[in-house]
Amino acid sequence: MENKLPKICTSLPGPEAQKILALDKRFISPSYTRDYPLVAKRGQGAIVEDVDGNLFLDFAAGIAVVSTGHCHPDVVRAIQQQAATLIHMSGTDFYYPLLVQLAEKMAQITPGKFEKRVYFGNSGTEAVEAAMKLARYHTKRHRFIAFLGAFHGRTFGSLSLTASKAVQRRGFGPLLSGVVHVPYPNPYRCPAGHRAPECVSECVCAEYIERQLFKTAVPPEEVAAIVVEPIQGEGGYIVPPPGFLDRLRQIADRHGILLVFDEVQCGMGRTGKMWACEHFGTVPDILVAAKGIASGLPLGVMVARAELMDWGPGAHASTFGGNPVACAAALETIRLLEEKYMANAARMGEYILGRLADWPHKHAIVGDVRGKGLMIGVELVKNRETREPYPEARRKVIQRAFEQGLLILGCGENTVRLMPPLLIDREQADFAVDVVERCIAEVEK
Ligand SMILES: Cc1ncc(COP(=O)(O)O)c(C=O)c1O
Repeated sequence: MENKLPKICTSLPGPEAQKILALDKRFISPSYTRDYPLVAKRGQGAIVEDVDGNLFLDFAAGIAVVSTGHCHPDVVRAIQQQAATLIHMSGTDFYYPLLVQLAEKMAQITPGKFEKRVYFGNSGTEAVEAAMKLARYHTKRHRFIAFLGAFHGRTFGSLSLTASKAVQRRGFGPLLSGVVHVPYPNPYRCPAGHRAPECVSECVCAEYIERQLFKTAVPPEEVAAIVVEPIQGEGGYIVPPPGFLDRLRQIADRHGILLVFDEVQCGMGRTGKMWACEHFGTVPDILVAAKGIASGLPLGVMVARAELMDWGPGAHASTFGGNPVACAAALETIRLLEEKYMANAARMGEYILGRLADWPHKHAIVGDVRGKGLMIGVELVKNRETREPYPEARRKVIQRAFEQGLLILGCGENTVRLMPPLLIDREQADFAVDVVERCIAEVEK
């Protein structure tokens, strides 16, 4: 596919897409969330072709997964070579070079100049589960502190930490006991009613943990870990105020609590640095990554301080985790991110954010624009003064963008998120910004 921009040649969904949609309706779990009927056939770079030959510009990247774009030739080559050599062995019972090569690389590129150990699973939720189990095992404490708006996965442990949308938890209780949720600092919607800059200078969300929670409901010596997204993803692409993570670090250190950063969505170069926490200079005890790590092959990773991994053989493992093909894809992905795409994410992110900067003044329904690198959120409101969320407008903007060949998704209650593959160029950035602006203007009317 040579095209860099969309081309829509049928009505949507087209005739071939409709056949797949009918089968999907019959056979696929109705629990999936689909905002619009894209039926993908192939992808190259930031372009996806559907089964009817329509071309779309992908600003969703398979939910922040295809960091190096769709089917990057170097990643495809690495996958093909590895698939022809050794597809599976199971790192839990045997050894193979790629497992240690990737572990060594992860230890090098994650924050903190200390010895680390690495655990491999197949998804974000598995990496989070591993972090939870390790935190309990090592500290011999049972409680966790997580944040309202957080998304950490859908298996029971990580679902217990997740508090993004009620539908994700409804009907599944009782969840893991011992998890308490506290507000996540949102400079646009400070839970204490502060507006920037007070939200930044007096981060009540961090203070609340120590000044209230620990004195009333949660004895700190029972808390194994604080689990936090350095930039909140599904909750609305919320960038916390500068000192927030550091304050969590201090609270954790004062009480012997582990600090876990979930970088599943915000990590792997997406924000223009390898890890979102690097923007804030705070180092966690445990970091989890997945999504963008292997350009689309399933892989979840938990990296911890070496001394925390005092669990013995059999305590935790996974048959498929760290599969050789996924490891090969990850090593190639990381090489490409380091070589050029992380820098491109920083450059393009700055460019897009520059173009969006005046939207909260120019567009009546844009309340806030925020983000780092290519993790960008545009929050839609009914009224800029009251900041009342406008989810219907968000739904319409996403739908209209699809009709014009741009794939975007929402996050939070009323935010449009832009999370393209990290290789987009200026022409693609301009196209996407123009489409979103046009859709916003239409909906505004
Ligand atoms: C921050 C974060 N953590 C964990 C997960 C769960 O990842 P997975 O869907 O691979 O289990 C997600 C998925 O969106 C996420 O955004």
